Amino acid sequence: MQLPNLISTPPIVQRFRWIADPVGYMETAAQKYPDIFTAQIIGFGGTLVFVNHPQAIQEILTNDRKKFTSPGESSKILQPLLGDYSVVMLDGNRHKRRRQLLMPSFHGDRMRAYGDLICNLTTKVFDQLPQNQPFSARNALQEISLQVILQTVFGLYEGERCQQLKQMLASMLDVFKSPLSSSFLFFPFLQKDLGAWSPWGHFIRQRQQVDELLYTEIAERRQQENTERIDILSLLMSAEDDDGKPLTDKELRDELMTLLFAGHETTATAMAWALYWMHHLPEVKEKLIEEINTLGDSPDPMSIFRLPYLTAFCNETLRIYPVAMLTFVREVQEPLELLGHKLEPGTPVMGCIYLVHQREDLYPQPKQFKPERFLERQFSPYEFMPFGGGVRRCMGEALAIFEMKLVLATIVSNYQLELADKNLEKPCRRGVTLAPGNGVKMVMTGRRANKESPLVMASN
Ligand code: HEM
Repeated sequence: MQLPNLISTPPIVQRFRWIADPVGYMETAAQKYPDIFTAQIIGFGGTLVFVNHPQAIQEILTNDRKKFTSPGESSKILQPLLGDYSVVMLDGNRHKRRRQLLMPSFHGDRMRAYGDLICNLTTKVFDQLPQNQPFSARNALQEISLQVILQTVFGLYEGERCQQLKQMLASMLDVFKSPLSSSFLFFPFLQKDLGAWSPWGHFIRQRQQVDELLYTEIAERRQQENTERIDILSLLMSAEDDDGKPLTDKELRDELMTLLFAGHETTATAMAWALYWMHHLPEVKEKLIEEINTLGDSPDPMSIFRLPYLTAFCNETLRIYPVAMLTFVREVQEPLELLGHKLEPGTPVMGCIYLVHQREDLYPQPKQFKPERFLERQFSPYEFMPFGGGVRRCMGEALAIFEMKLVLATIVSNYQLELADKNLEKPCRRGVTLAPGNGVKMVMTGRRANKESPLVMASN
């Protein structure tokens, strides 16, 4: 098979570097081959083509049911977490139908209903933080994003089962918090249950407990047959597959796990980066406060959502360290040429979101955090693409952006925070994502002087 710009370092060395230092790996490769290269880092027959050029990515993502497909099989790395029946693992028509079923739940209009919930959850979590003591911003934000997704998926975020689910999910996912423990995902032979104290053993046990809670919830819902509920679980339970059969418990479990996982880990990380940047660069925080203040004392969520500088700030946060470094795999279907390289059927390609966002020709001085770049020019969906594109474009984009903006606006309006650690936060692997290595340690030094009570946004 002809492969464009094959990286010749021994595959095992590449694989370790990719796991331990993904940013270093990508940047070294891009210095030699800025637009396209072939890495030997994971399964899929050992090679994977990284595409870092916007036009080539456009070519792939606008053709990803024709010249390219998006096989679920290639996301096997997530199978231990998501199971076999998640939307991520499906392809072809089954994938299309599942997306059609789920998408309305994540539509922008639907998201608006969650505005007050998001603001109130933020003050609830941040009011409980100790003053003048370091805390992990990522953990606090994860609590908010987890509650939001529990509400959208199950229609509830309080009660004993929800509390248990929150604790167990967080504990289960903490297994992947370091690059070393993330390697369990990349080396299936490490996935051995060596008892509750071994990392994989711990993961399996936590997963089993989460599964039990999910199955209990499904069983109760089946008995209740409440047709008035509009949450995602109810929607999935009333749906039928191609043969007119309802989804099985296992299918429901896998989809719930996918939404719970994809729906809160990523958003929490993005918000942690955002808090980091605004406190690392005080002039940015000042501009944000100034802009939010123009809305008066009880702004409605939609006017916050539309603020231009806040929008540019969130975009820049998602540009500089995109939480998802890569799109899912697309596979070449017919012989074709990409950037002058011949690709044969079966070749796996991925859009490298990180490297596109670091292109000097698109983003001058790409290592500098400058929200203004998003006010000064517009970027195409293949130049700025934190949520991927094409048939697997992120389903939670509207929720993630809405949530990010409301949570950040609420925090910045109500609390005085400082970074507890003056060192730079470095982007580190967390499972398959790129997260701040130290979780953004912060200290709350007080509440904003001009706000005596928490800012609770008015509903629209
Ligand atoms: C800042 C937060 C988030 C980021 C950066 C992000 C990023 C991404 C990316 C890059 C993809 C792959 C797209 C592709 O291959 O072209 C993806 C897929 C996906 N995302 Fe997100 N995501 C975020 C939040 C969410 C949320 C809140 C949900 C809510 C449930 C979600 C659910 C999904 C699902 C289900 C898929 C798979 C879609 C499919 O296979 O068809 N994501 N996301």
